[in-house]
Parts: sequence; C-alpha cells; structure tokens
Amino acid sequence: MCHSLLGWCKTEAQHRSTFTNTKRYILLVVLALTFGAVSPGQDSTTSAAFRGLPVRSTLADPAIESKVDALLKQMTLEEKVGQLVQYSVGTAAGPGTGREDYDDLVAKGEVGSLYNLNGAAAANHYQHIAMEKARLHIPLINGLDVIHGYRTEFPVPLGLAATWDPELVQKAARIAAEEASAAGVRWTFSPMVDIARDPRWGRMIEGAGEDPYLGSVMARAYVRGYQGPKLNASDSIAACAKHFVGYGAAEGGRDYNTTEISVHTLHEVYLPPFYAALDAGSPTIMSAFSVLNGVPAAANPFTLTQILRDEWHFPGIADSDFGAVRELMAHGIANDGETAAYRAFSAGLDMDMEGNIYHQYLAELVNSGKISEARLDESVRRVLRVKFAVGLFDHPYTDESREKTGPLPRQNLDVARTAAERSFVLLRNESINSRHLLPLTNAQQTVALIGPLADDAGEMLGSWSSHGQPSDVVTLKAALTERLGADRVKYAKGAEFRTATDEQIGAAVNAARSADVAILALGEDAPTMTAEAASRAHLDLPGRQEELLEKVCATGKPVVLLLFTGRPLTLPWAFAHVPAVIEAWYPGVQAGPALVRILYGEAAPSGRLTVTWPRAVGQIPLYYDALSTGRPAGNVDLTRPPSNAVEKYVSRYIDEVNAPQFPFGFGLSYTGFRYSAPAVSTTKLSARDLAQDLRSRPADSKTVITVTADVTNTGKVAADEVVQLYVGLRGTSTAEPVRALKAFQRVSLAPGETKKVSFSLTPESFAVWDIQNNYTVEPCEARIWVSPDSASGSPVLVEIGQ
Ligand code: BGC
Repeated sequence: MCHSLLGWCKTEAQHRSTFTNTKRYILLVVLALTFGAVSPGQDSTTSAAFRGLPVRSTLADPAIESKVDALLKQMTLEEKVGQLVQYSVGTAAGPGTGREDYDDLVAKGEVGSLYNLNGAAAANHYQHIAMEKARLHIPLINGLDVIHGYRTEFPVPLGLAATWDPELVQKAARIAAEEASAAGVRWTFSPMVDIARDPRWGRMIEGAGEDPYLGSVMARAYVRGYQGPKLNASDSIAACAKHFVGYGAAEGGRDYNTTEISVHTLHEVYLPPFYAALDAGSPTIMSAFSVLNGVPAAANPFTLTQILRDEWHFPGIADSDFGAVRELMAHGIANDGETAAYRAFSAGLDMDMEGNIYHQYLAELVNSGKISEARLDESVRRVLRVKFAVGLFDHPYTDESREKTGPLPRQNLDVARTAAERSFVLLRNESINSRHLLPLTNAQQTVALIGPLADDAGEMLGSWSSHGQPSDVVTLKAALTERLGADRVKYAKGAEFRTATDEQIGAAVNAARSADVAILALGEDAPTMTAEAASRAHLDLPGRQEELLEKVCATGKPVVLLLFTGRPLTLPWAFAHVPAVIEAWYPGVQAGPALVRILYGEAAPSGRLTVTWPRAVGQIPLYYDALSTGRPAGNVDLTRPPSNAVEKYVSRYIDEVNAPQFPFGFGLSYTGFRYSAPAVSTTKLSARDLAQDLRSRPADSKTVITVTADVTNTGKVAADEVVQLYVGLRGTSTAEPVRALKAFQRVSLAPGETKKVSFSLTPESFAVWDIQNNYTVEPCEARIWVSPDSASGSPVLVEIGQ
C-alpha cells in the first residue's frame, strides 16, 4: 500500500478513481444485500475497532441509488452545488455567516443543509420552502451540535467516557436523539472521536480521552444511540464523526494548531475511532481545522480520498468544519476562494460548512473544466444518499407536538443521574482517625459548602450544552440542602473563577471553622476555560482558588475537594494534602443528586480516568500506551536527581519523575478489589491464522483466545469495578506500546463476592500497523494483563508463532 500521496497532485486521475469507487461501492451494496452482510456493528466491548477493510454502512441500499440517479439527471449545475452548501442560521460567527437571505437561498435550491435552527417550527419553516418552493423538492438536512444531550444534559463526553459504560452512553445518546429530533434536528455533529493526549488542548473535554480502543468503543456507542435501530425513524439523528483527523494532536495543545503524525501512529492511534464510528453506521464525517503533515485536513487527499474512500469505501458525506474551506487561504495553500474550493473539493471534501466558498466558486470550476461534472455528481450523490437514508424525502417535517417544554421526564433524569454517578473518579481518600474520609456520615453534623461551582446551575451543563437549561439542573447546594436541611449546610462561595476578595475567602474559612467537614467545589469555568478555543498553558486552578483551598485546609477541618474540569489539572499540593478528591467533570442536569449519593455512600465511585493525569505541565504529552525507549528508566530512582551516569543517561527528567499523578484507567472505590493472575485458554497462537482472520469478515466475532481472572470485592460495600485487559507486543517489526487496552468490563460485586471475568480476544487485539504499512498480526510475544488500571498487575505470556 502506498502512503506517499501527501499532496494534492490528483485531479482528473483522482476523480476517475473516485468514480470507479462509486461503481465498486454499488457492487458492494449489491453483494452485501445478496449475502445479508451489511448491518451496523453490534459488537461487545471486547471486539476491536480497526480492520482497515471497507466499513459497514447503513447507507447500502440499491433502491436509494436509483432514486439518487433519477434526481441527479434532473438537477442543474447550481442545484447540484447547492446540495454541497451548508449555512448556520443565526448570529454571525465568522465571515460569510449571519446572512439573512436563507428563505431565498432555500427556494432556489442553493443550500443543502442548515444548522443551528431553533426548534421544530424553524426547521419546518425552511423545510416547507425546500419542499414546496424549490424546483426539485429536495429536503434540507438540519444539523446541530448535540454533544452530550439536547435538553437532558448528561456529563460532558470526557465524563461519559469515564463511566467505561458504553451501554449507558448509548442510552444517553438515544435520549439526546429523541429530544433533538423532536426539535427538527436530524444531524448531530457528534461524536468527537479525536484522541487527546494533551490536556492543554481545551477540547479534550469533548472526546473520550487518550485511548484508541476505548475511544472506538465509545464512538460506536454514540452512533448506535443517535441512530437507534433505524436511521430513517423520525426519532433518529445522523451522527458525524469529527474531526478527521489528528486535531487532538495540535502542537503545544494550542487550538487549531499544526499536527505531525506518522502514518503508523495515524493508523494505530488516531484513525481507529473514526473507523469505528463509520463502521457502526455514521453516515457523515467532519474534517479537522488542523494541518496534518503539511496538508490542511480540509484539503487532504490522503485522508479524505485515499483512506476514506479508496480504503474504507465510505459512502457518506465528508463535511468541512466551520469555515475551514475559507481558512485554506489563511493556511497559505490558496490565494483566492476559487483555489480554496478547488483544493478542498478535489481532495474529497463534499460539503462546505459556513465557508461560503463552494457556493461562490464550485460551479465556475466545473464550467471551466477544472472539476469534472462526474466528480461533482459523486459528492452530490453522497449528500442525497444520506438524505434518503435519514428518511427526509418521505418524512421531511417534524411533528411539532413532539417538542416538549415541561419538566424533564423521570426516565431521562434517571439515566442522567446514573451517568453522572458513574463518571465521578475518586482520586484520593485518605484516612482520618483510621477511617477513610469518604463516604461522609451523618455524624458529621454540619457541612461547609464552598466554591464557585457549588451552586452554579449553568456550569453543571459544561461546554457545548446545546439546549440545556440551567433551570433543569439540581446543583450540589440544592441537593445537599435537600438531604441535610438548610441548618446543616453552611454555604460560602469563597471565590469567583478568576478572582476572589479577601472577604470572600475569609467568609469561606469561617464557614469551614464552624462546620464538621468542608466540601470545596472548585475548577474551571466550563464555557470559557475548557472548550473550543480554550487552550491553557498553565493547568492550575484559576484565580485564587488554590489559595482558598489551602486556607480552608489550614483550619484543620476535613476537606473534600470536588474538581469540575474538562481536563486533568496539575495540582501537586492538593494531591499531597487534601484528604479526599473527586474529579466530577461537568455532570449535567443531575449533578447535585449524583454527587450527594456518592458523597454519602449510597453508591460507590466507579469512574476511571480515560486520560493520564500529569504531575507537571512539562511532562505533557503524557499517555500510558507509550513505546519503550532504548533507555528505559527501569529501576532507577527518579525521585532524586541523577547522581551517576547510570542514573543520568536514561529517558527521564532530572527535576521530575516520569510517572503521572494518576495513571490511565485509575479510580478508587469505597471498597478494595483483589485480582487473581490471569489465565489464558492457550499460550500459543499462529500469526498466519490471525492475520488471515483479520482479512476475512466477520473478523470481529472470532474469538482466538479467552482470558479470565477472578476479581473479588474485599470490602464491606457493594461496588462496580472496571476490569481492564491490556496487551503488549514484543518482537514485532515496529515498536509497539508496552501495554495497550484491548478489552474491559464493568462488573458489579457484592461485598466479599468473587466473579470470574472472561474476555474473548479477537485477532485485532494482536494486530499492528507493520513496517510495510499493512494491518496484520506478526510473530511476536504477547503479554496480557488483567488489572484495575494501566500501571499495575503482572502479565501472562502468549507466544504468537509463525
Ligand atoms: C467546531 C465543530 C462544530 C462546528 C459547528 C466548529 O467550530 O470545531 O466541532 O461542529 O463548529 O458548530
């Protein structure tokens, strides 16, 4: 396989190859229908993500293809271009935005998709114009960023990932789809499946964290939830996997910045969650803002055509990000709009979100012969295909009576509360008078509740909260007061996010002095500090919050710190001095009730980190599935500066340990868990057989080895444990991670109970992107861990022979 096409040299040749792909696609559709093989994936968490084979697609339907053919024949050039144009209706948010002539544009068939419409009536307004006034009656597809809920807001995606509970994430996405579709939304720009290994990057909050396997499992869960059993049902919304690809690797963590990612790492780390989302049936994908290896992602033929179309055979829409086609001029690969349109379109990007570039220049590029009409038809076909698959031609309008304004239904709240509860990660729980501080007891009569996040309903919704309403949120203060009564809760805000007066801090310290325990709710201001365009160079608590924390701790009262952040913060003092710390992310509408249940032990914490937590910003990027260097630190004591050559010339810092504050997968409970050594069903596998299986479908259902371990709840309370399985390969043609997650299970254990946890591994669990750029299994030694996090346990060895 050749991967040297990092440029935009393809023009007609590329168009021809894409055109051939269409034929190949149609053939696949027919074959698939004949053999009944096409269905969205229904795999368990142990099936792997990436196969490098064509993705399965919900768009495969020959009946749709003939309807598209019929329509294409009737379309004018302008109408075709119109299908590739997307605008945000609403306030101006950049060049070309905030237009007012949408009625007219829709009536002329000059726009294919609108987004950011406010509610079903607005969606129907434009849809009526498209269906009644436009010549060919092609429906619009209406989009919105429904990221972690529409109105019922769940924890932010990084928190949802920390549940390690894909079924729950799927349920949350289903509720989001039901609510959003009732408001006329049929396309969400979610899930964000960017792997993020740099907490300086503000968008870490929007994804599932650093791991490609977990990211792939979560990607599938979102897609299944949004799209439900039938994509064309009126309560389903089309997913969009974003941002293709590598956006999370922005240099320095600075948003929109350049990325350099090798083809090997691209395939092993960054591509798998995209593949998983598409293979689960996502009919759309969005390109990234960033430059990948010298070529902007919005105009990158290597990713948008070679990988997406030639290798994965993706038949759906490749959308740009907001204004990204226009931004090709700022990137310096186009000096004018026409060249920007040419670069993006000829690279394989179908739709221009908000750039107002395709709209202006695409027809002229076709007229002048720079872009063939066949190539244009190809992109229009993809858009129409998705519109048919979503059912918009048959049911273009939204039943406005479905749009609810009353209180959120109980069943939605229950899912929101469970999701929040399972997302909290207990990071620290020291003993005071030989008892762990958490859970709190009723003996602690009065509680001082302090911090800018203790009673801020809007903040609990996190960033990208769609139509979430602060009035739906139960804050920690409200829930605590409900449980304890107002007399027992002494509330003092203590600080704003970025500022505090001495009086505010003094009042908080006094509240703590007069209480039995202090709970501090500290962190980042969600919309402005942990979101898009919210990169941070300093990962501390903003403003005077750390000072507030230290002063409250100085009272000598027991302190529980609740962190509300969209990323790990480097807080060495807190992790050394504060007895109990919970990472709460932004929990959504049920923040308060979920926190109170955890604080008072009605449920044990069971969230686990999906990002490595650094001690110092200088360690970043820091992630668990790293390669070994030629000079691993081994047994060298890294807590002291090197005192001789043996200690010095290893891969280390001279002023900080290598280890993170908390490893990936980490999280404490209110009980303990004991793991037996893992047992394997075989200690020998054949690389040839596994590689063969990888290439034949359905590879993901073939178990090649079973790994079991006994896990025991050694404490006195019932709790869930997230049992994690890691594989490390040695002896392969490329250096592979020392250990990488390949499976996990969330297991409920009663006090004293032991469960045998069994993992069925498939060929993908042992696959590598090899030195020849093939996805394969090579003869090597596999180490398999079953452990509570990525840094503990002892492996069992399995030989992968020829
Ligand atoms: C973001 C996308 C989002 C789009 C539309 C952009 O700024 O990068 O993730 O989907 O806006 O709102």
